[in-house]
Amino acid sequence: TIRSQVKGCGSYLPAKRITNAELAQRIDTSDEWIAQRTGIRERRIAAEGEYTSHLGIKAAKDALNDAGMSAEDVDLVICATATPDDTFPATATRIQEGLGMVRGAAFDVQAVCSGFIYALSIADNFIRCGQAKTAIVVGAETFSRILDWEDRGTCVLFGDGAGAVVISAEEGAGTTDDRGILSTHIYSDGRHRDALYVDGGPSTTGTAGHLRMEGKEVFRHAVVRMAEAIDTALETNNLTAEDIDWLVPHQANLRIIESMGRRLKLPDDRVVKTVDKHANTSAASIPLALVEATRDGRIKAGDLVLMEAMGGGFTWGSALVRW
Ligand code: ACO
Repeated sequence: TIRSQVKGCGSYLPAKRITNAELAQRIDTSDEWIAQRTGIRERRIAAEGEYTSHLGIKAAKDALNDAGMSAEDVDLVICATATPDDTFPATATRIQEGLGMVRGAAFDVQAVCSGFIYALSIADNFIRCGQAKTAIVVGAETFSRILDWEDRGTCVLFGDGAGAVVISAEEGAGTTDDRGILSTHIYSDGRHRDALYVDGGPSTTGTAGHLRMEGKEVFRHAVVRMAEAIDTALETNNLTAEDIDWLVPHQANLRIIESMGRRLKLPDDRVVKTVDKHANTSAASIPLALVEATRDGRIKAGDLVLMEAMGGGFTWGSALVRW
């Protein structure tokens, strides 16, 4: 059986850090309100002239370096982003060029905060059916560019950044002990568009638009949908919550993250959290968290890692990976 094995991961965060206290100087909010409701303390913001592809290229290079591989080894680049450099070409092709690649295929995936799970799912399927041998899956975002900086209900929640993983085809016995992606599960329900959307685009307004969100509505759905996606991932592989070594959730809100951990009865230190430092980086949040937890020695080869996410659309999903 062919399985997509994780060979390495990488990340990049813009240098500029903005704390809650700094935001409170510009809008009517406080460190206490933001930290209590979301767990966020600070976020990174891309510099002028620093685009999503620039963040993605740095994360992808870091991931290749971590994998001990070069761009020549790669035949597929998928970039999950809701904040592409331009309407077209795909940001993934900018990343492909930045890596010096002149072969293979590169394209973007748009599933907002679930984008990384979607892109990983697609790359895994390309690899398992033999159409690609090695893929780079990038999640890269500059949400600061689509925030309404006057709307305190949304602008405090997001940040910029990028993360990437390199996965390659490996032959295995096909058991859940084999290293690699065990399964991915993706879902969407377009009826919920109005709960989380951007009020602009090339075909509607001809502008980039700003993010609009009904936070309570998103919260309510997120908890239910992600729990379902987790259950499906475990059932599909005949595994139980006790088998999980690490939960690496999309980093939107500490209360959602912790409620998922509690539901799985996972000890708190088995749930990877970066939302305090990165805020919600949309498609970049899971690979950013993976990098942090592998580099500091928490996630090790052979560990069972469960990822889950939910985003605009709504879209949601999960992935179970033997690291
Ligand atoms: N600072 C101070 N007060 C604020 C702020 C702020 N930054 N933002 C809102 N408030 C006020 C509101 O105006 C409101 O005041 P009012 O009662 O006088 O009208 C009060 O705080 C409560 O506002 P709510 O929106 O009801 O606050 P809630 O407890 O629901 O928390 C939050 C809001 C944090 C957004 C929460 O709903 C949430 O986290 N939802 C999930 C959102 C999410 O995770 N989105 C991303 C997932 S999908 C994706 O990643 C794309």
